[in-house]
Amino acid sequence: MRKDFAVIKGFIVFEGLDGAGTTTQAALLREKFKTEGIKCSSECEPTANYIGKVIRRVLGGDVDAAPGTLAKLFAADRNEHLYNREEGIVTRCRRGETVISDRYLFSSLAYQSLRYGFENVLKLNMDYPVPEHLFYLDVPEEICQNRLEERDELEIFEKKSIQRDIAENYRRAIELYSESEMKIHILDGTLPPEELGKIVWSKIT
Ligand code: TYD
Repeated sequence: MRKDFAVIKGFIVFEGLDGAGTTTQAALLREKFKTEGIKCSSECEPTANYIGKVIRRVLGGDVDAAPGTLAKLFAADRNEHLYNREEGIVTRCRRGETVISDRYLFSSLAYQSLRYGFENVLKLNMDYPVPEHLFYLDVPEEICQNRLEERDELEIFEKKSIQRDIAENYRRAIELYSESEMKIHILDGTLPPEELGKIVWSKIT
């Protein structure tokens, strides 16, 4: 098990199955930072940039991509998210800002491994630094599915049959990084959002 992953101070990531509530928690945390007067941005992967847009088309089923292509697109999108000279996470965190990301490389290990293999996905992502805090919102697959069915259209990774495998890949990914200096918080994502938000905040401060 590797221990020497570089850690980006001030970088916070939320992960979980589709429907686990990562977007809600990322937004609540950003609000909390704002009310505390701390400069903070909240964003997501796939990003809103040009590579992220292509990824969204694949996820929506508009364009087809081989599993390796999709895994590489996510890795390239992440590279830009991290290292873009002006806007990248690394630059901003170095300036002392706090950056929250709704999903990061753990999503690639959880989702792309289904079709491209865990080791292959790891190879594409293992040189990337890790966040200071990783929050994994643990929610049983059935509850996630119920939450998703209340939304309109399911994307390609949102089908019930694969949620269990994705959860298993998440466990494997988290285990892999368990000896790094990243702080890993596995929280009960079935708690009411506000209550969970308070727990998240208590882990950061
Ligand atoms: P999601 O956060 O669910 O966005 P939205 O709520 O707008 O649909 O993310 C979209 C999907 O992208 C989600 O099913 C997980 C998937 N994904 C991957 O497959 N690999 C990755 O590396 C990332 C970051 C996301």
